[in-house]
Amino acid sequence: MFSHMTSLRLDKEELSKLIKNGRSCTGGGSGIGRLLAQRLAKLGATIVIWDINKEGNEETARLITENGGKAHAYICDISNNSEISVCSETVKREVGCVSMLINNAGIVSGKKFIDTTEKDIVKTFEVNTFAHVWTAKAFLPDMIKNQHGHIVNIVSSAGYIGVNSLSDYCASKFASVGLTECLDLELHFAGHDYINTTLVCPYYIDTGMFAGCQTRFPWLLPILNPDYAADRITQAILTNQKQLCIPRIIYFLVMLKTIVPASASPYVHRFMGGDKLMANFVGRQGNKKTN
Ligand SMILES: NC(=O)c1ccc[n+]([C@@H]2O[C@H](COP(=O)([O-])OP(=O)(O)OC[C@H]3O[C@@H](n4cnc5c(N)ncnc54)[C@H](O)[C@@H]3O)[C@@H](O)[C@H]2O)c1
Repeated sequence: MFSHMTSLRLDKEELSKLIKNGRSCTGGGSGIGRLLAQRLAKLGATIVIWDINKEGNEETARLITENGGKAHAYICDISNNSEISVCSETVKREVGCVSMLINNAGIVSGKKFIDTTEKDIVKTFEVNTFAHVWTAKAFLPDMIKNQHGHIVNIVSSAGYIGVNSLSDYCASKFASVGLTECLDLELHFAGHDYINTTLVCPYYIDTGMFAGCQTRFPWLLPILNPDYAADRITQAILTNQKQLCIPRIIYFLVMLKTIVPASASPYVHRFMGGDKLMANFVGRQGNKKTN
C-alpha cells in the first residue's frame, strides 16, 4: 500500500477546520467509498454514509466505530431524488450540517450501446450524474450559510476520454465533469471561494466494479490498487486540490486527445488496448468482491 499522507502540508488549525462537522459520502457501502470514509473518520470527521446496500453500509459504519470513529449509516437510493430529499433532511436533523459532500456512488452496465436498454441508460444517469445534482442542491445552501464546505465528485477518466463499449457510463461521467467544472466556476464568481470542489478522475481501480477488464500496458496504465487510490483522493481532498487524475498519465492522455485529429482516435485507442479493455468485463455481477 502506498501512503501519500505524509506529504500533506497543513497546519493544525487548517486540519481541524477541515475535519469538523459531518461529511456525507454516497456509495460508502463498499469500494472507494468505504476506504474514504475510514480514512476521513481516522482524521476525526463524523461520517455519514449513504448506500442502497444495507449490509455493506452497516459494515462500513461498524468498521469505523470499532476503530473509535463516528459514523452514521443511512439507506438511500440516490437514483431517486425524493429519497435524497428525505434522507438529507433526516441527516440535518439527526447529525447536523454536512460540511463535505462526497459523491462517490456509481454504477456501470458494461453493455455495448446497441444492447443498452432505456432502463440501463436512465439508471446510469440517475446514479452517476443526477444524484450529484440533487445532493449538491440539498447540502450547498447550508455550506453557503456557514461559509464553509467542500463538494467532492468521484467521476472517472472515462469522464474525459470515451471508452469502447462504455457509452452510457462515459456519457454520465462526462456530464458530471461538466457539472463539477461549472459549479466550481459559479461558486468562485459568486464570491463563495470558501467552498471547494474536487473532481476525481481515476483510471480502473481493482474494487470489483470493473472486474474482468484488462489493461494492455500495466506499467503505463495500471489497474489501481484501491488503498492507493483512496490515499491519493484523501490527500487531494485535504489539500483542496481542484482536480485529481490517477495515474498521472491520464493528464497527458486528456491533453493528447485535444491535439490528435479525431480521425486518428480509433488508432490511438487500439494501440493503447482500448478496443479490448471491456472485452472480458463481468463487473459486480460476476465478482462479489467488496473492498
Ligand atoms: N472501480 C473503478 O475502476 C473506477 C474507476 C473510475 C471511477 N470509478 C468511480 O468510483 C466510484 C466508486 O466506485 P467503486 O469502484 O468503489 O465501486 P463499488 O461498486 O465498490 O461502490 C459503489 C457503491 O455505490 C453504491 N450504489 C450503487 N447504486 C446506488 C444507489 N442507487 N444508491 C445508493 N448507493 C448506490 C453501491 O451499493 C456501492 O456500495 C464510482 O462512482 C465509480 O464510477 C470507479
